[in-house]
Amino acid sequence: MCYNAAMNSLRSITAVRVLVILVVLLIWKVTVSIIWEYRNYVPPNFESDFLFGRDPYFWGGYHWAFYIHLLAGPPSLMLGTILISQRLRRRSLAWHRRLGRVEVALVLLMIAPSGLWMAFYAATGAVAGVGLGLLAIAAATCAWCGWRSAVTRRLEAHRRWMWRTFLLLGSAVVLRILGGLTTVLQWDADWLYAASIWASWLVPLLVFEISSSSSSRVRWRTLPSSMTP
Ligand code: HEM
Repeated sequence: MCYNAAMNSLRSITAVRVLVILVVLLIWKVTVSIIWEYRNYVPPNFESDFLFGRDPYFWGGYHWAFYIHLLAGPPSLMLGTILISQRLRRRSLAWHRRLGRVEVALVLLMIAPSGLWMAFYAATGAVAGVGLGLLAIAAATCAWCGWRSAVTRRLEAHRRWMWRTFLLLGSAVVLRILGGLTTVLQWDADWLYAASIWASWLVPLLVFEISSSSSSRVRWRTLPSSMTP
């Protein structure tokens, strides 16, 4: 009985590990395909999908936000996949701290401000723009709270805030997967892009909040009574 329970938990741990590895590989693959598109951005090709129709304002300041965003986006996503690794954290806390500082700086100083700026020019309209603007504010808030909680040694809070930051950055990947799906399904509607933007960060965040609150309830219930107030 005890052996069976141990085998079951080993199997579920292995399944979770395999799933995490697959998700990380997917994130890296999508990030590489994002970087591949940079051939249309340096120098800017105003006939390409994203830059089409942006030439009137591109060199009037937008280019700063755009290139800062392009520079900081991929490393932040890749660093995120490294920082969530418990193995690396256990092996070298010093490296976790160093890379964590870089990650927070990338989000606070580059991705969030440039994303907020670019949100005002969202090609698909105001609803999409508000979704992207709020995403930028949410990412900056989570990264700031994650950094503050690390500095003040509130490690559980730190873990949760950094997971939120990572999920918000991951919206760039979710958005492109949704875009690919709608293309394959030949589903084209005006509201689809705006809906995908909102869904790309709200749905992962919601799933995280629900799953982490239910798992902390389970942990709370299983605490020995001597440890409850
Ligand atoms: C959570 C933080 C982020 C915010 C708020 C944000 C915001 C934005 C905004 C507002 C745009 C312009 C959209 C439009 O005009 O329709 C944009 C485009 C872009 N973003 Fe982000 N972004 C974030 C994270 C990322 C990450 C992590 C990456 C890299 C993997 C990334 C890569 C790009 C690229 C390459 C573009 C240019 C368009 C394209 O090639 O698809 N962004 N982003």
